[in-house]
Amino acid sequence: MSKTIDKYKIIIIGAGAAGFMAAITAAQKGINTLLLDASEKIGEKIRISGGGRCNFTNIGASHENYLSQNKNFCRSALSKYKAEKFIDLVEKHGISYHEKKLGQLFCDDSSQEIITMLFKEAHQAGVEIYNPVKIKTVKKDGENFLLESSNQSFKCQKLIIATGGLSIPKIGASDFAHRIAKEFNLNIIPPRPALVPFTLEDDFFTSQSGLSFDAEVKLGKISFRENILFTHKGLSGPAILQISSYWQEGETITINLAPEIDIYEHLVKVKTQEKKKIKNIIKEIEFSKPSNKDIKRKIDRKFIFPEQYLEKLAEQNPDIDFEQSIAEASNKSLKSLANLLNNWQVKPNGTEGYAKAEVTLGGVDTKELDSKTMEAKKVPGLYFIGEAVDVTGWLGGYNFQWAWASGFAAGSAG
Ligand code: FDA
Repeated sequence: MSKTIDKYKIIIIGAGAAGFMAAITAAQKGINTLLLDASEKIGEKIRISGGGRCNFTNIGASHENYLSQNKNFCRSALSKYKAEKFIDLVEKHGISYHEKKLGQLFCDDSSQEIITMLFKEAHQAGVEIYNPVKIKTVKKDGENFLLESSNQSFKCQKLIIATGGLSIPKIGASDFAHRIAKEFNLNIIPPRPALVPFTLEDDFFTSQSGLSFDAEVKLGKISFRENILFTHKGLSGPAILQISSYWQEGETITINLAPEIDIYEHLVKVKTQEKKKIKNIIKEIEFSKPSNKDIKRKIDRKFIFPEQYLEKLAEQNPDIDFEQSIAEASNKSLKSLANLLNNWQVKPNGTEGYAKAEVTLGGVDTKELDSKTMEAKKVPGLYFIGEAVDVTGWLGGYNFQWAWASGFAAGSAG
């Protein structure tokens, strides 16, 4: 093993969004800073984010958009590094962007612009970057930390762990942060895949693969109104990903496939005027204008329920006669049918796991960390930031905003 590299006061392990922000912030204060990453290619998660356009922040981000055992923990960091601060940086680098919906800001062209911006900022601030360097062990030696990779060792006074969560192992996700936290006797909130598609055994879903609805998805008091998408394994789409972060094994979610229309009311009204088959009445229900201006519907068909969907629904529910004339239908059977559309009960049998999860729920327990600096209370000089910490954002730019804000908090500290 070569001589220990000890010229850096601060070392940050993990050059993702959080690690970059921490390194830039620390180096801008004139501190010798080293950023290490195990990957050959830095910034892969940023590159694939937002469908290649990186939803880099959300202008409305507040602590209410995050899941954590302590919902208030993220308040301080988010208030000291608001979305506006990151937008200023993006604008300083001439990156053009747009709001897609619900405060979500995306690059007009490519996520690569954000990666290039971070490299430029790091370079200007004097951050040194070593990669690929996979750190295997971390030990505390008096005031210092000793880090070892397979062929190098490092020594520093301040160590920031920014190695993320377990999502997407194929681009380098690892349990490193959780492992190091445990070695230093810090509690871990058990990790789980979040913002992840559901799997369902029922062939009803696979047969409709590709079909989407503008829906409201509910679990207890939590609800999300956005698209849902039938997949060959079950259900996905923004509203499903959002609710998945709250879902526990065995729970049933409720889906309203026509949030703007009370289908029962509609059927009872039509019953007095029409003799058409129930199937045709449902088929002719059109989308109405969303009552909320923030809802931007991407579905380009005129009618809510496609014929193939209704056929499969009829096959699955033989107790409801879709061929019956509406004039002859009982209100009870119209209510059952309306429930399938406005109040559909779905019990997922699981999720697609870390291979498809956008984020990891859980991680380093926030009770172990100082909310202003992200420093471990029991281990002075050791910090955890980004997805490694038990703070998980909704879909829509909130996770990057947490990465920037927690990175800024740790980089500014000390
Ligand atoms: P991140 O995981 O980015 O970085 C960790 C780094 O640590 C990696 O570079 C890894 O190589 C390195 N590392 C791991 N172990 C190591 C070791 N032992 N030694 C050295 N290095 C090590 N969020 C959002 O707000 N808007 C969006 O548009 C999207 N889109 C999106 C799409 C997809 C497909 C995914 C998977 C995720 C998103 N997200 C998102 C979530 C967002 O990408 C995520 O929350 C942040 O990238 C987390 O940033 P971190 O810096 O905490 O970890």
